[in-house]
Amino acid sequence: MGLGLLWKLRAPLPAAATEEQGEGSVPEAPTAINPPVASLPATAAMDWDALAAAVAACRQCGLCEGRKQAVLGVGDRDADWLFVGEGPGAEEDQRGEPFVGQAGKLLDSMLAAIGLRRGENVYIANAVKCRPPGNRTPTPEEMAACRPYLERQIELIRPKLIVALGRPAAQTLLLTEVKIGAARGRLHRYRDIPLVVTYHPAYLLRNLPDKARAWEDLCLMRRTMRLGDRG
Ligand code: URA
Repeated sequence: MGLGLLWKLRAPLPAAATEEQGEGSVPEAPTAINPPVASLPATAAMDWDALAAAVAACRQCGLCEGRKQAVLGVGDRDADWLFVGEGPGAEEDQRGEPFVGQAGKLLDSMLAAIGLRRGENVYIANAVKCRPPGNRTPTPEEMAACRPYLERQIELIRPKLIVALGRPAAQTLLLTEVKIGAARGRLHRYRDIPLVVTYHPAYLLRNLPDKARAWEDLCLMRRTMRLGDRG
């Protein structure tokens, strides 16, 4: 499959961050992966409507102050594939849908490269549901406060494979310090669900040589979906 043909390059994004820092242009140094937060939303019994309402009204962390709207996620709620990014950017905050900017276009191309389309057997969510100001990486506290929503989404979707796009998503799902270079290229697990870590599309827009590694990760995803743990 012609990777170069499918993965169209866009204009570079404004600022650079390393993938080990996260997508945002103003990186934060995470200190603890799952810090205690004052209170956590009780999501265990929520159905989709209750979850959407809780996320829309959430005030568990300071990110709610700057949002136009919370961005729950988009796609097929019975999907086999779940892709998890970092958090909404400016366009996502405006439109209420994850990955609608330049990084989203590349994500769509990545999906197409393995025969997938947004919304068809694919669900896309983020580690945090509200836009971090200035496109910075969400703090460990913000991710911990939002984690119950992501966990409930995973319980409701019951995907066959989870893809963590970038370091913050990987860390919030695996609850451990992650370096993308070391974590990518092999299978992890979220509870009993296989999980693949790969580069965030926004990082790939700025670091073209790593697209070859991302392609390997896409092949691992496809293989895992086909063969399960034997992939
Ligand atoms: N980057 C993300 O991680 N998520 C989005 O929804 C958009 C950009």
